Amino acid sequence: MTILITGGAGFIGANFVLDWLAQTDEPIVNLDKLTYAGNLETLASLDADARHMFVQGDIGDSALVDRLLAEHQPRAVLNFAAESHVDRSIHSPEDFIQTNIVGTFRLLEAVRAYWGGMPAQEKAAFRLLHVSTDEVYGSLGAGDPAFAETHRYEPNSPYSASKAASDHLVRAYHHTYGLPVLTTNCSNNYGPYHFPEKLIPLLIVNALAGKPLPVYGDGMQVRDWLYVKDHCSAIRRVLEAGRPGEVYNVGGWNEKPNIEIVNTVCALLDELRPSLGTSSYSAQISYVKDRPGHDRRYAIDAGKIERELGWKPAETFESGIRKTVQWYLANPEWVAHVQSGAYRDWVQTQYASV
Ligand code: NAD
Ligand code: DAU
Repeated sequence: MTILITGGAGFIGANFVLDWLAQTDEPIVNLDKLTYAGNLETLASLDADARHMFVQGDIGDSALVDRLLAEHQPRAVLNFAAESHVDRSIHSPEDFIQTNIVGTFRLLEAVRAYWGGMPAQEKAAFRLLHVSTDEVYGSLGAGDPAFAETHRYEPNSPYSASKAASDHLVRAYHHTYGLPVLTTNCSNNYGPYHFPEKLIPLLIVNALAGKPLPVYGDGMQVRDWLYVKDHCSAIRRVLEAGRPGEVYNVGGWNEKPNIEIVNTVCALLDELRPSLGTSSYSAQISYVKDRPGHDRRYAIDAGKIERELGWKPAETFESGIRKTVQWYLANPEWVAHVQSGAYRDWVQTQYASV
């Protein structure tokens, strides 16, 4: 038995690969294009591990995906591959359309052909799991109930619109062709190996470097945070027991305004690596121009996955954020390497005018 995952050199995909192989000997074929966000250094511990086969390539390369499916005969395909950063989607949406929509479509076509040719027993057990986001549901008002799976789609950024389109395609392949798909819509992840363009790792690396901690707008936007390993355990559980055609929202009931995240990270760094320059890293907080179209609040109702599949997160926000800050302090080499090249260019483009 083998699984094929896409985007397994990115933040969540790589955490998933590491967790999977820590718990089972079932091999993984890992297809990743290695964009700026793909980082094989995260998977360095698997270099000599025959259970992990890495293939550099695009989910939109139908010939390559056909070949991988035929050669490795996976019992499941898990699609993590995406362009994932909202700010990048605002600056240049094209890649988001290509990978998140066209790429997912081509992957679905390849998987449909492969699944169609499987023997009956394997065909019944096969699953395509599509990893998606809470951002497809749009933005909540302060008193609104959290997003349930039945919430209407109201994506507001090119990123969330492209993810919404991919979710609709996945749904349609179940409805029209009977492809046994599963979709997960998860809230904001944080944890080890997170690329420092996203809020939490950016705060940690900027604080340590004595740089400003950029807070968009008034800092009162609310996100619902989940430790990445809890997202991985939810995906494993959905793969194992989810009902084909169903959608499962994944979250940890951890809504926080951004400014509270910033203050928490500063307080942890003050405790674990006191700043030499000032009494607190919070002196580096800098309010900057808001993100265009910035969604005000996300919150996930994780009741369905809890009730139907018995999944619960293992970490509280307090335990998860402490582990995360400790991980970044213990891994300066990973951080230094990820900050070279494309990352530096991106920071210049994003913050030059603020
Ligand atoms: P990421 O940007 O860290 O990683 C994406 C990975 O996909 C990279 O390794 C990249 O090289 C690869 N990739 C990009 N385009 C590709 C292509 N055309 N073909 C093959 N590989 C390609 O993203 P992430 O944060 O790990 O997110 C993974 C998935 O989870 C995405 O689908 C994202 O929408 C979803 N998600 C993310 C979060 C979050 O908070 N990060 C929350 C919910 C859902
Ligand atoms: O909700 C799930 C989504 O979470 C995923 O689908 C996305 O792939 C992932 O990137 C993330 O999107 P966000 O836009 O919520 O994450 P980001 O880390 O970019 O921003 C978190 C919040 O912090 C958001 O309200 C914007 C704000 N922010 C972000 C950055 C990078 C700042 O205030 N300053 C910053 O410099």
